[in-house]
Amino acid sequence: MRLLLVAVIATFTIFSGGTQSHLLRGSPINSLCAELIHPAGYSCTEHTIQTKDGYILALQRVSSSLAQNPKLQYGPPVLLQHGLFMAGDAWFLNSPEESLGFVLADQGFDVWVGNVRGTRYSYGHVTLSDTDKEYWDWSWQDLAMYDLAEMIQYLYSIANSKIFLVGHSQGTIMSFAALTQPNVAEMVEAAALLCPISYLGHVTAPLVERMVFMHLDQMVVALGLHQINFRSDMLVNIVDSLCEGHMDCTDFLTSITGKNCCFNASRIEFYLDYEPHPSSVKNIRHLFQMIRKGSFAQYDYGLLKNLRIYGFSKPPEFDLSLIPESLPMWMGYGGNDGLADVTDVERTLAKLPSRPELLYLENYGHIDFVLSTSATEDVYKHMIQFFSALRRKSSSW
Ligand SMILES: *[C@@H]1O[C@H](CO)[C@@H](O)[C@H](O)[C@H]1NC(C)=O
Repeated sequence: MRLLLVAVIATFTIFSGGTQSHLLRGSPINSLCAELIHPAGYSCTEHTIQTKDGYILALQRVSSSLAQNPKLQYGPPVLLQHGLFMAGDAWFLNSPEESLGFVLADQGFDVWVGNVRGTRYSYGHVTLSDTDKEYWDWSWQDLAMYDLAEMIQYLYSIANSKIFLVGHSQGTIMSFAALTQPNVAEMVEAAALLCPISYLGHVTAPLVERMVFMHLDQMVVALGLHQINFRSDMLVNIVDSLCEGHMDCTDFLTSITGKNCCFNASRIEFYLDYEPHPSSVKNIRHLFQMIRKGSFAQYDYGLLKNLRIYGFSKPPEFDLSLIPESLPMWMGYGGNDGLADVTDVERTLAKLPSRPELLYLENYGHIDFVLSTSATEDVYKHMIQFFSALRRKSSSW
C-alpha cells in the first residue's frame, strides 16, 4: 500500500512536472488531419475557434469518399466530444471499420471532431502560455460552458442546421451540463452518450478510489502543480516501468477504468503514441469532488469563495430536469465500467425528463466504447440506427 502510494505520487509529480511548450499560441505542432485521418484516405480540414475566455481550439471536419452523394454536399452534422485525458484522436485509433469517426463518415455524416483546451491539438490561448498557472485554471464546467457550447454554436452556424452530439465519458458530463442551457439545447438535434456520467458517487475503479481516498488531488495542489501531463520522456519511462514491473499495462488501465472486454492489447504501443493528453489539476479536483459528494454540481471553492463566486455557501447543482424532454437521447453503458457505474447511470436516468434509448452491454468497460475492436457491431451500428431514424423524420436532409 505504501509502495503504491509512493509510486502514484511519483507518477503524478513527474506527469505534471513536464514543461512542454508545444501549446504555444498559433503554432499547431499536432494536426489530427495529418496524423491519423489523411493517412487513412479520408478528407479532413482543420478549423479553429476562439472561446470567449481566450482559448484557441482545433476542430476537424472529416468526410469519406465512400459516402459520395451527388445531391448533397454534406450529410447531417455530428460533433464528437472525447473524454478525459483523450482528444479527438480517440475516435480514429482503430481501423476505419472499427473507429466511430471513420464509420460515421462512411455512413455519410458530416463528422466534426472536438478537442478541448489543454489537449495537444488545441492551439493554446490568446495571451496565456501553458506554463502559466492561469492557463490551467478550469474544470469540466468550463469545458461545457465555453468549449462545447461554442463548438456547437460554430457547427450550427456553418452547417445551418441542428447537430447530432456524441460524447464519451467526460464528454458526456460536458454534454449534460451544456444541454441544461436552453440556448445550447436548441441547436442540438439529438445526443448519443457513451458511458454517460453526471453522478460519480459509485466509482469502482480501484486505483481511482484509492487516489480519492488518499486525497491525491490535494497533494498535487500542495506540490504547486496545475497541469496533469502524462507526457514527458520521464513519464513515458514511468508508464513503461509500471507496465513492465508488477503492474502490466492492461491491468493498469483496468485499475483506473474497470475491466475492458474487447481491447486490442497488441495496439497499446500505438495508443500510447496518442493518449493520454494533458488536463488540469483543477479538473481532477472537480471530478474527485463529484466522487466524494456524489453530486453533479459546479466546482466547490470552499465556503467563503463559494459565497463570493456563486452567492451560496455550496456550489449550485446542474439541474438535469432542464434538459428538454423533446431532445432525443441515446445512451450506451457497460456492466464492467468502473467509472460510469450502472447505479450512477440509473440515477442520471431518473433525473432526466425524457426516456433515452438505452444500450446496455454487460461485458463492456469504459474504454471499450471507443476502442473495442467489435464496437461497430456492438455499439455504433445501434447509434447510427438511432440517428438515421431521426434523420428520416427530419425534412432538412
Ligand atoms: C489488433 O492490433 C494489431 C496490431 O496493430 C492488428 O494487427 C490487429 O489487426 C488488431 N486486431 C483487431 C481485431 O483489430
